[in-house]
Amino acid sequence: MTVPPTEHDTAQSGSIPPPGCPAHIADGPGGATRLYGPAAATDPMGLYEKLRAAHGPVAPVLLDGDVRAWLVLGYLENRDVASRPTQFSRDPRVWHGWRSGEIDPATSPLVPMIGWRPDCVCADGEEHQRLRGAVTAGLSQFDHRGVRRLITRFAHQLIDTFCESGEAELVERFTEHLPMLTLTHLLGMSDESAPKLVHAARDLFKATETSLASNAYVLECLEQLVVEKRARPGHDIASALMAHPAGLTDEEVQHHLRLILLAGYETTANLMSNVMRMVVTDPRFRGSLAGGQMTLPEAVEQVLWDEPPLMVCPGRWANGDTTLGGQEIKAGDMLLLGLAAGNVDQAIRPDAATPVHHNRAHLSFSAGTHECPGQDIGRIIADAGIDILLTRLPDIALAVPEESLSWRSSTWARHLTALPVTFAARPPRADDVPAPLPAPPAQSDGRPAAVPRPAAGPAPALRPEPRASWLTRVRRFLRRR
Ligand code: HEM
Repeated sequence: MTVPPTEHDTAQSGSIPPPGCPAHIADGPGGATRLYGPAAATDPMGLYEKLRAAHGPVAPVLLDGDVRAWLVLGYLENRDVASRPTQFSRDPRVWHGWRSGEIDPATSPLVPMIGWRPDCVCADGEEHQRLRGAVTAGLSQFDHRGVRRLITRFAHQLIDTFCESGEAELVERFTEHLPMLTLTHLLGMSDESAPKLVHAARDLFKATETSLASNAYVLECLEQLVVEKRARPGHDIASALMAHPAGLTDEEVQHHLRLILLAGYETTANLMSNVMRMVVTDPRFRGSLAGGQMTLPEAVEQVLWDEPPLMVCPGRWANGDTTLGGQEIKAGDMLLLGLAAGNVDQAIRPDAATPVHHNRAHLSFSAGTHECPGQDIGRIIADAGIDILLTRLPDIALAVPEESLSWRSSTWARHLTALPVTFAARPPRADDVPAPLPAPPAQSDGRPAAVPRPAAGPAPALRPEPRASWLTRVRRFLRRR
């Protein structure tokens, strides 16, 4: 790998840079900048701009353990890297760092993000197409209106748990919970395991002392799910993955279920938190929504431009020597897609403060062959969930000074830790009828459907069992917290 350049220390000017020069951001070995630690955690957007000023559209950076990588900051350069899989592989095994000893795979916290797994994220070419085909078939089997009704139902259930109190912490009670409830249901989790799995999968992300145990529990649940669905398929993602002609092994199915759960949960939860923070802190944003100048889907898109749920996306690995954004990239080098930096690149957005109307060309779902296949589901969860929340609690307001809001940050993303709100106390909704569930699309495209559509009558349930029992348990669980 090209040693992160030191030319910004001295070579360009032949002298030590003056105070205030962007070159001063270099704080790691070889003159590269750490993309972890206090500076990256406090002001990641500021750090990206300093890197851009110092290096242009591609900058040398250091990851945890001072592991070297290139951060792609330019919009066009990000698209270029994401769209040229033969030049920039998605298979982490291409990285020379495994062989050079730059990383200790047994202990490095980077491994969950850049390690190889038998899933579509880590595959190129035909193998990627085989695995991704099964994933997209599994995700696209649900009718969007049906998914929306399911989310609406879950959103009401969650709001019912706190609406009487007149106050709530929205991240814990709503924005982190709704995506997980929806995804576990779509995956095909049994009614019995859902509440505990929701808790475990959320705990897994928080790097608590119980995270490892939670991770083990999630894997155990998914392994069990594979066994159950092999025996009794249903209309769910797990069954669709197994039935797909790509012929996924049980291990591949388990890894893709985990991928969908983890890729879909945290990003969607972040998106919802970011939109709700804008609603309760920015009067112009809220005014535009309330006044009809901006629809909720447009507001979601604006936040996707300004605050991508995944700010830095790992990774791509150079298949050969090449030049990118003026930097010499060597075979085996690691590149990171700077999605947040690319979205505010002046080359495409001269004024980042100007609203981006009807424009979905942001990088938040990445681009190219690995572009997020779950983006429609993510958008529907955020849109429908926030719609119900604002309809039920239109007077919702921030309960603390805006300055006291805090984030949990990593190289890859930052999460609002809490969003305390107040509103006028209201009674819960009276009804508790089972949710209308997502129906298969009207037209069969030849993919195996585990649950056949009836010739006439209402859309079939995703799962036939009555669901009130575990929803009641979820509510009890939430009330206990
Ligand atoms: C707002 C919500 C979401 C955001 C911002 C998001 C963003 C992303 C990004 C940036 C990637 C990486 C693509 C790359 O490596 O170039 C990705 C991949 C992926 N996402 Fe999402 N995602 C979201 C929601 C979801 C949901 C809800 C699901 C599933 C239901 C999902 C499933 C996946 C899968 C399976 C991949 C791997 C695709 C591949 O490698 O071919 N995502 N997503």
